[in-house]
Amino acid sequence: MTPKDPPLILAIDTSCDETSVAITKGLQVWSNVVWSQAALHAKFGGVMPSLAQRMHEERIDWVIERALKQAGYGLTDMGAIAVTCGPGLAIALGVGISKAKKLAREWSVPLIPINHIEGHILSPLAISSTSHSPLLTLGEGITCPALGLVVSGGHTELVYINKIGEYKILAETQDDALGEALDKAARMLGLGYPGGAFLEKLAREGNTHTYPLPLPMAGRENLNKFSYSGLKTAMWRLTQEMQKSNKKMTKQMTCDLAASFQDMAFRHLIRVVKRTMTSPYPLLNLGEGFKVKDLLVGGGVVANVELRKRLRALGKELGMTVRFPYSKKLIGDNAAMIGVAAGYKFQRDEYLEGEEDEKADRKPRWRIDEIKSV
Ligand code: KG4
Ligand code: ZN
Repeated sequence: MTPKDPPLILAIDTSCDETSVAITKGLQVWSNVVWSQAALHAKFGGVMPSLAQRMHEERIDWVIERALKQAGYGLTDMGAIAVTCGPGLAIALGVGISKAKKLAREWSVPLIPINHIEGHILSPLAISSTSHSPLLTLGEGITCPALGLVVSGGHTELVYINKIGEYKILAETQDDALGEALDKAARMLGLGYPGGAFLEKLAREGNTHTYPLPLPMAGRENLNKFSYSGLKTAMWRLTQEMQKSNKKMTKQMTCDLAASFQDMAFRHLIRVVKRTMTSPYPLLNLGEGFKVKDLLVGGGVVANVELRKRLRALGKELGMTVRFPYSKKLIGDNAAMIGVAAGYKFQRDEYLEGEEDEKADRKPRWRIDEIKSV
C-alpha cells in the first residue's frame, strides 16, 4: 500500500500555560510557534486556570497568524485542523477546541482530536521542514513494538507502543510527576517557577554525596510505579532542619541539595525504565527473546542535559536507540508534536468531518491507553 500524500495540518495546543500553533506535513515541522504565559503565572507559584484561559483567548489568533506566516502558507492550504483535547486544564483546552472547530467548519476540512501525551511520545519522530521525505508511512523511523517515556510537569509515564495509535501504560507515577517534584524541590530552595531548569543549573555545581536523600522505592519488588513523595518529604525535612539550625545557607549548600535531589529523582526514573526493559516477559508480554529497540522520550524534563546523558547510557547498556526531539521547542508543550500525531491519525482515516466535530470535547483526564479511533 502506498501511503497517502500527507496534508498540511494546522495544529493547536492550549492544554496548560502555552498557546501554541504549528503547521506540519507528515513528520515535517514547517512552523511551531509557542507563546508562553509562564512568566505571568510565576508570581502565583503555579498555573492559574482562569488566567491561562484568558491569555489563550487573547493570544490565539495572533499565534495562528504567526504560525501560518512562518510556514509561508495560508488557511486555504490546510488539509486538516488538529487540536489537543486532553489531558490538561479544562477551561484552557476549551479555547483551542472551539477555535479548531470554527476553523475546520469555516474551511470545510477534517478535525483531528489529539491526546497531549501521545504528542509528547511521538515528538522525537518530528523532522524539520528542510529534511527530505515529507511522506509519512505508518511506523516510519521506529520499530514497533517500542517504548515511550513522558517526563513532564504533569506526567511521568512509561508507555508500551504496540503500534502508533495503540498504547498501554507500563508504569506511571503514584503521586507527583517528575517535573512537578523538581519544581517543588526548587521552591523549597527558593528558586523561581517552573524550577526544573533552575535546579539543573545549581545541580551542576553541587556534590551529590553531601546531603544523602533516599532513593524512592529502593528494594521494593513492584517497580511499575514511579513515586516522588518520599523523596520530596525527605528534602523538605532536610531544608527545615537546616533553617532551624540558624546556619546561613550558602550557595554551595543549595547546589549540593539540588544535586542530591536531582540525582535521586533521575536514578529512580532510570531504575524503573531499566527494570521494565530487562524483564520483557511477562511485563510486556512480547514473548521470549523479543527485544525493544526504540525508546522515544518527550516532555519538558527532557531539556535536562544530565537526564539525557543517563538515558543515552541506559540505551547503550541495553542495546536500544533512545530518541529525543530534534529541537528544544519540541520538548516543552508545543503544537508541532500534536501535528505529528495528527499526521498518523489522518493516514488511518481517523478524523471528524462536518457535524461530527461535536464529538471533539475537552477531556481533562484523558489517558493515553483510552485513545480510541474516531
Ligand atoms: O512538558 P512541559 O513543558 O509541560 C507539561 O506538560 O507539564 O514540562 C514542564 C516541566 C516543568 O516541571 C519544568 O520544571 C520541567 O519541565 N523542566 C525541566 C527543565 N526544563 C523544564 N526539568 C529539569 N531540567 C530542565 N532543564
Ligand atoms: Zn505537556
